Amino acid sequence: MCGIIGGTGLDEVLPVLVEGLRRLEYRGYDSAGVALADGGSIWRVRVANGTNSVAELAGVARPPSKGSRAGIAHTRWATHGRPSVENAHPHLDCTGRIALVHNGIVENHLSLAEALTDRGHVLQSATDTEVLVHLIEEEVARGLALVEAVRSVLATVRGSLAIAVISADDPETIVAARRATPLIVGLRDHAAFLASDIPALLGQTRQLYVLDDDEVAELRPGALRVLTLAGAEVEPRALEVAWSLESAQKGGFDDFMSKEIREQPDAVANTLLDRLGPDGSLAFDDAELSAEELRSVDKVCIIACGSSHHAAMVAKYAVEHWARLPVEVDIASEFRYRDPVLDARTLAVGVSQSGETLDTLVAMREARNSGARLIAVSNVVDSSMAREAQAALYTHAGPEVGVAATKTFLAQLVALELLALMLAEVRGTLSHAEVSGWLSKLHEVPGLVREAIRRSEDVDAVAKALADARDFFYLGRHVGFPVALEGALKLKELAYLRAEGYPAGELKHGPIALIEPGAVVVAVATRNRLWEKLCSNVQEVASRGATVVVIADDGDHETAALADHVLWVPHADPLISPLVDVVPLQLLAYRLARLHGHDPDRPRNLAKVVTVE
Ligand code: G6P
Repeated sequence: MCGIIGGTGLDEVLPVLVEGLRRLEYRGYDSAGVALADGGSIWRVRVANGTNSVAELAGVARPPSKGSRAGIAHTRWATHGRPSVENAHPHLDCTGRIALVHNGIVENHLSLAEALTDRGHVLQSATDTEVLVHLIEEEVARGLALVEAVRSVLATVRGSLAIAVISADDPETIVAARRATPLIVGLRDHAAFLASDIPALLGQTRQLYVLDDDEVAELRPGALRVLTLAGAEVEPRALEVAWSLESAQKGGFDDFMSKEIREQPDAVANTLLDRLGPDGSLAFDDAELSAEELRSVDKVCIIACGSSHHAAMVAKYAVEHWARLPVEVDIASEFRYRDPVLDARTLAVGVSQSGETLDTLVAMREARNSGARLIAVSNVVDSSMAREAQAALYTHAGPEVGVAATKTFLAQLVALELLALMLAEVRGTLSHAEVSGWLSKLHEVPGLVREAIRRSEDVDAVAKALADARDFFYLGRHVGFPVALEGALKLKELAYLRAEGYPAGELKHGPIALIEPGAVVVAVATRNRLWEKLCSNVQEVASRGATVVVIADDGDHETAALADHVLWVPHADPLISPLVDVVPLQLLAYRLARLHGHDPDRPRNLAKVVTVE
């Protein structure tokens, strides 16, 4: 997974590409590079400087003297070949006259590379990508135009790709293609653009289009032509974008994560907006799924990765409680390879901020092939998952740039609770009045979250007190368990501290052996039906010397008495409490990351959108 961008018809192409790369850094930053077609040759600069690659590229790249009007650029998250300048994109062919950037994986690259070497090509990198540019070189040498050469090569490669290619022989043309990896294109007056994601282009144009799998686009100044793999010209699909450019930038905060945490009340409120259909019942955003089909469901299977998986775990409690349907929650990368029992009465729900995570996307396809009904919960309108599914439930959180999910996690929680209420409504397990009652409670959440965020200084003080701790255990029960998992994940990915999330009742079956003075136990101790039992578990760790932090309901001094530190939150109904309780845990991870000197927006080794297995 990487970010790519391209533009043609621009008087100053380099700054546009570098600015686009900055907005794509959440997709990876192991290295960065740019290539421009400057009429007669290809000019290229590449750097590999860890999390600072794009900044370094911006510092060292000076536009070539001849003045180019078209170029492509790339920010990398290494999969094949270590992060280095040789492995940085753009890659060149043997003549140095064709340059290519790629996001994805060429699965048959080893056999293709062997064949290319036998035919005399010299490959310069250890990447899977480089074979593509040499294959295109061969097709161009046979006399094909660049767009035809790309079409022809696509037929020979397996895997996922979003590519952009330029040639010194046709310096104002960019050819782009996509298969199983996101790619959008855009037009403006006398210019044309492509990028992996919307924020990278928002400063340039709002006339955006989404490419479908196996479509090839030819971009010329002010012109766009889209072809299928078979060569038929197709109308590109226009993309409606409601996001402002400002919403995709930092807006005065030190980092995107702070901004995105503060945007959480709006993310929840927007996700709740406009949910009632013409008949007053709850409705999806895009749906080819009738109430009849929903009513026939006898099992729900929720598939996701990372934070989205934790949101799915909370949804299990809501769907089982409100809609009385059995729910299985699966990690997508596992679901794909077991033999799940699904049929037309199974409702499979893919949950993904990006809507592009490869494991989740493929798992959803598997579910659909087994006959299941399919819903996507995604933050990106028209994402691959939304297109794969029969119905989409969008989280309207706006673009999330920080690698660690925050506002999209809250938006997923609220979207999944809406889904649970929808199922309860069609199945009649809750009355219309009960559904309305729950909806009113959900509408109170933005205010509760705002209040929890307002207390960030209290969290900062606790973080300071814990600055030297190295071992963290997050405990919760019932819906507090997925919240504990999410809190531990945030701490691991942002502060690089060892953090385990456990259902508190399981502690006595092993993990308690690790508790000793110096360990920190963070307990999600707001009052749900297992609160008393959780308090006993907290006492067990306190008596073994752990430092205890509790998330407690305002005024709950009984819980506070068990702890060394208290993070107070406004009270919410237990099924809704994860939306509030997770906020201090996000803030704690953020502050500890800062205290340890880490950039919360760009945690090491991670990328925001994972389009590899
Ligand atoms: C990556 C991100 C996580 C995210 C996960 C799933 O690992 O760093 O923050 O939760 O992918 O992404 P998705 O887009 O499918 O929600």
